[in-house]
Amino acid sequence: MNKKRNFSPYELNQLQKWTKNIDINSIGETPVEYITGHIEFCGLDFLVTEDTLIPRIESEQIVNDGFRFIEELGISHPVIADIGTGTGCLGISLAVKLSKSQIPYSIFLSDISPLALKVADLNSQRLLHSQENIFFLESNLLESFPKIKFDLILANLPYIPTQNIFTLDSSVKDFEPITALDGGLKGNLYINALLSKLPQFLNKKGVAIFEIDDTHSLESFSIPQTLSSTIENDCFNKPRFLVCSYL
Ligand SMILES: C[S@@+](CC[C@H](N)C(=O)[O-])C[C@H]1O[C@@H](n2cnc3c(N)ncnc32)[C@H](O)[C@@H]1O
Repeated sequence: MNKKRNFSPYELNQLQKWTKNIDINSIGETPVEYITGHIEFCGLDFLVTEDTLIPRIESEQIVNDGFRFIEELGISHPVIADIGTGTGCLGISLAVKLSKSQIPYSIFLSDISPLALKVADLNSQRLLHSQENIFFLESNLLESFPKIKFDLILANLPYIPTQNIFTLDSSVKDFEPITALDGGLKGNLYINALLSKLPQFLNKKGVAIFEIDDTHSLESFSIPQTLSSTIENDCFNKPRFLVCSYL
């Protein structure tokens, strides 16, 4: 017999808010966000589908750090890339923050998955007043990008080591897209591939912020010699962000 699922008050609240007369016993282990089609991120209501990862609260720090960096350096019109955008949560939340501060920007949102990009596009239309400086690119990392330099590169790429996927909670490994999770043998496959392109794509005063697995350390990555890097902790005090800039 199937074990009865215990829903948290938050999950019950979300089900009540977004669905009508749903039989909660029919949901099984499906994450509530895939039932409701909604997730709150940085105080904004994002659409989410089974083609996209469900954004996690820890990732909000990437948006906040990116925004602080732009403000502190006083960059007047930052050019930003959100690589592996999924729902678009990082780039779109940052765009909302910049708009509120009346800082003009250009943001490129990219993903290898055309289905994820459709969700990001919908979110952009719902959450941003203007689509003028938002560009969507179906691209394997930076392959299809124009040859320009970015002030800020944000990337929450797949970073879970392949052999650890089976240890993940069933609600993650059985429902979220494997292409959003599996980072190759050591979990650093995509991050290293992107790091190798930073000298070509990152402005001299620019910063790149990567979300990483909490088992990673600086030694896990092949960081170009011209860059300095640090690892920062997330809101649960786990090492989760690799931050790179020029020496
Ligand atoms: C961990 S999810 C992150 C989604 C979103 N940025 C977030 O923070 O919730 C990783 C995303 O990277 C995309 N991806 C995987 N491999 C990629 C590649 N080679 N180039 C670009 N995007 C890739 C996946 O489709 C997925 O949307």
